[in-house]
Amino acid sequence: MVGMETLEFDIGHNATRKIYIGSNTLEALPDYVRGLSADKFFIVSDTNVDRLLKTRVKDSLAGVAETHLVLFPAGEGSKTLSTLEAVAAQILEAGATKTSVIVCLGGGVVGNLGGLLAALLFRGIRFFHIPTTLVAQIDSAIGIKQAVNYRKGKNLFGQYYPPEFVFVDLATTRSLADRHIRAGIAESVKHALCQDRDFFDYLEQNAGGYSWEVIDKISRHTIKLKLELLKLDPFEGKLDPQLELGHTIGHALEIIKMGQLLHGEAIAIGMVAETRLSCALGFMKDELCRKIEGIFQKIGLPTRIPADVSVDQIMDTLRYDNKRRTDRNDFFLLEDFTRFHKTNDKIGTKVPEAVLREVLEDCH
Ligand SMILES: NC(=O)c1ccc[n+]([C@@H]2O[C@H](COP(=O)([O-])OP(=O)(O)OC[C@H]3O[C@@H](n4cnc5c(N)ncnc54)[C@H](O)[C@@H]3O)[C@@H](O)[C@H]2O)c1
Repeated sequence: MVGMETLEFDIGHNATRKIYIGSNTLEALPDYVRGLSADKFFIVSDTNVDRLLKTRVKDSLAGVAETHLVLFPAGEGSKTLSTLEAVAAQILEAGATKTSVIVCLGGGVVGNLGGLLAALLFRGIRFFHIPTTLVAQIDSAIGIKQAVNYRKGKNLFGQYYPPEFVFVDLATTRSLADRHIRAGIAESVKHALCQDRDFFDYLEQNAGGYSWEVIDKISRHTIKLKLELLKLDPFEGKLDPQLELGHTIGHALEIIKMGQLLHGEAIAIGMVAETRLSCALGFMKDELCRKIEGIFQKIGLPTRIPADVSVDQIMDTLRYDNKRRTDRNDFFLLEDFTRFHKTNDKIGTKVPEAVLREVLEDCH
């Protein structure tokens, strides 16, 4: 299709998947799905997205194969095994087979849950993403990690499982609330800090009121930065530092404040807390620490741990972090733009509990 940019991401074993990026392109969907020869499409979506986009996507797919819509309540609270089972039940009762295809239409919650469901149903059926939030377009839909939460820990039940392709229509984000746009930009700041100093400057200069033109530019650039990382390791294990900056403390806050802090808000606070940790240990200069907190403030993201979340609550929740390899959390601490602190040539840093507690207290 004219105006469609096609990129590829690595999924391991020398295979790749395509990402189609355009604007106002949903109507072209039939051309991209015919080749799947699906017997049925099952659109998995949430109740908010249903109101906005159901008709356009359902009508588009129904011209190609029998199409069903399966909905669950919007929000992080739905990212559970029980929602997954309820969605699976509806799909099975509607006659799903091995040649059916799941269509994840929505934000990161829909994509992560629908992707995991595709991995599990009949030991794996095909699926593709139509991401409709900034977080999903620039991050969660690009990659092979699918998961749902345990009530005390993020993404504890999951699988590596690739979509057939990712169909990004940038214009679908136009109905997002400002708060969700800001939350998405937090992931762009993460990539800028870890991979691209010039991009950080660009985000900083434009912070405080991004136009749609700028948002689209930011989205395309963030996707390309993520693709660079997936080339190095599609399973993202070696890339935990770059992809999970701020996510250890961020995920703990997101779970504790379930439904009250968006993913992007929680990781913005997490990035500030983890850079303060780096300062407290003498790895990062105070000036950079303040600059990082400053960009999030300019964007309009929270930077402080909510007053009603105690350090003990955070310490307890950190035990359920899915990156943990031993009985303690290692932290990925930046020293400077694109440079992580290393111990014995390894990036994960042990942090004394007393220092962690003190920094968390100071981050309120
Ligand atoms: N690598 C990964 O797999 C990865 C990366 C980043 C985030 N995530 C996960 O993604 C989730 C967060 O994603 P999210 O921020 O998209 O949350 P979300 O899926 O809850 O979507 C946010 C809100 O936006 C609404 N929405 C979706 N599309 C819309 C549109 N076009 N217009 C208006 N409203 C719309 C949704 O209904 C929801 O209320 C978290 O669970 C996080 O763990 C995963």
